[in-house]
Order: sequence, then C-alpha cells, then structure tokens
Amino acid sequence: MKDIYILGIESSCDETSFSIVKNGVEEISTVISSQIDIHKQYGGVVPEIASRAHIKNITFVLEECLEKAKLKIEDITAIAVTYGPGLIGSLLVGVECAKTLAFLYHKPLIPVHHIAGHIYANNLVKRLEFPLIALVISGGHTELIYMDKDYSFKKLGSTLDDAVGECFDKVAKVLNLEYPGGPKIDKLASIGEDTYNLPIPLNDSSYNFSFSGLKSAVINLVHNEEQRGNIINKENLAKSFQEVVIKSLTKKTMRAIEEYKVHNFILAGGVSANSGVRGEFQRLCELNNINYTFPSIKYATDNAAMIASAGYYAYLDGRRADLTLNATSSCNLE
Ligand code: KG4
Ligand code: ZN
Repeated sequence: MKDIYILGIESSCDETSFSIVKNGVEEISTVISSQIDIHKQYGGVVPEIASRAHIKNITFVLEECLEKAKLKIEDITAIAVTYGPGLIGSLLVGVECAKTLAFLYHKPLIPVHHIAGHIYANNLVKRLEFPLIALVISGGHTELIYMDKDYSFKKLGSTLDDAVGECFDKVAKVLNLEYPGGPKIDKLASIGEDTYNLPIPLNDSSYNFSFSGLKSAVINLVHNEEQRGNIINKENLAKSFQEVVIKSLTKKTMRAIEEYKVHNFILAGGVSANSGVRGEFQRLCELNNINYTFPSIKYATDNAAMIASAGYYAYLDGRRADLTLNATSSCNLE
C-alpha cells in the first residue's frame, strides 16, 4: 500500500502547531509555537490575543514543519485540521489555513475533533488496542470514552461543570501561582502532604464528573485561613487537592474498565502530564492487569501530531469536509 502522509493543523487554544505523520503512527516532523509567555501576564488565555498570535505565526510554523520533514505540500496525501471544540477565533485561523491549502493543492480535507486528537496522541506512543477506555483530561475537557475500533467513540460521561485542568488552573491562581497552574500544583504536590480535608466531588454511580464545587471549597478554605491570619501551607494544599482529583478520576474510570470488560486503558489531554494522576493509574492498572498507555509529556498538551494521527484514521474512515467547513466552539465527538 502507498504511504499516507497527513499534514495536521492545531490552533484551538494557545498553541499554533503543524505536524506530518506517516501512516498514522510515524511522526515525521512537528512544530509547536506556544503563546504561554504572552498569556501568562494576564493569568490565562485571552481569546482575542490568541487568534491574532495564530495569524502572525501560522505561515512560519507551516514552513518550518515542511522544512524539517524535507517534504513539499505536493507530497502530502491529505490535510487534517481541528475544527472544534475550542476558542472560535483561534480555531478559525487553522480551519481557514487548511481550506486554503486543500483548495490550492487539490488535497482532501479531514475535519478532526480536538478530543479525538488527544486520544490519538497515544497512538504515537503505541498502536491503540481495542476495545479501550480513554480518559481525556485537559483545560477544556473531562470525558470518559469507550472505543471498540478506530475512530469510533462512545461517550460514557463528562464533567457537568468545570474541566479538571481548568480547576487546576483556578486553584493555582488562588495560590498565586503562574498560568498555566497545573504543572506548578503538580510540582508542589510532589513535596507536600495530604493534610487538608476536601470533599470528593460527585461521588455517585454515574460516569460524570464535577470540579466546580472542589474549586470553590479550595478558594473558600484559602480565604477563611487568610481572614484568620493563618498561613496556608501551599505544598500540603496542592497535595490534598490533587489527591481528591485523583480519587475522583480513578474511581469512575476503574469502574468503567470493569463494567465494559476492557483490558486497555489510555490517558489523554494536558492533565495526563500530571505525575500523581499518571502514577496512580499505573499502580491501579498493574494491580488489575490492564494494558495502560499515556502520551509523552510533549504530546500530552495541544499539538498537531495528535491531529495528524487521528486524521489518518478519519481519512481511512472516509471522513471528508468540503470548503464550507466551519470552526465550532462546541461539538460532539462522533
Ligand atoms: O490539552 P491541553 O493543552 O489544552 C486543552 O485542550 O484544554 O491542556 C491544558 C491543561 C491546562 O489546564 C494545564 O494546567 C493542564 O493541562 N496541565 C496540567 C499539567 N500539565 C498541564 N495539570 C496538572 N498537572 C500537570 N502536570
Ligand atoms: Zn487540548
């Protein structure tokens, strides 16, 4: 069979990224231009600034990606792009770029859902094995998904309010840690002790999650201690908070693994970079004889390699978009 080269484009939040992946598994080149340094002075991503930065960067990132791969667009089989969910202004930049390239070079255009991308970041580590359960935890998503084959997604549950990464970032903010706060909480937690008593959210029989109550509990705790003139032990609070998050995520995920009788589990999304979350799933999967995969740190957060890998399977599945493709801030994973 002829090799298939997919050019992936990701611009859903604050990373402008291009990647070329061969046959869904072999990464040829990836370039990620992060805007974190711009947004951290505002304590979070400013959508208007993000879309302007994408416009400024996009052609340079594309050129660098092709140069690194020693390929021309003519060598590419198809163009895969994140069309949603995400920040609408940011998504539009990637989608318009993909449509322009597809039109100019007569290439098929493949629409990729951002969460499918996060799942397929694992395919670059090890070929996915089915059936599997995927837990996608990022700044915008917390979803438990069942897959019995490539590019077939069944949502079992998701967050009812805040995403887990959003909760990490907001808790970090109240502790005066820089954006993005997730990695900073992770670092503090690694030297802290679990001494603060926090509630386990939505401890029920569903596969849904909830993190806004936990976030409020931490914010209230910090304000109350400050009012009493007490000093917060940031390491211990980070550890206690992270432990509650881990308990909530692992409890429901391990139940889904058991109920759906799967032997494969994958972790995905920016929060999968968390050492505590990774470690506890490792322990539980070893204990239960589950084949466990998580993405490399580089591909846990947003990147186009995961979009190109997912795009390959979407391409094989016959999924195509025409030049009416539009970006969308929220859409279902189908
Ligand atoms: O997947 P991603 O790049 O963007 C979305 O699709 O949302 O995820 C970004 C999120 C941020 O909330 C960030 O704080 C979180 O991932 N994150 C972490 C860690 N590294 C990144 N959260 C906890 N621990 C980490 N080590
Ligand atoms: Zn993401």
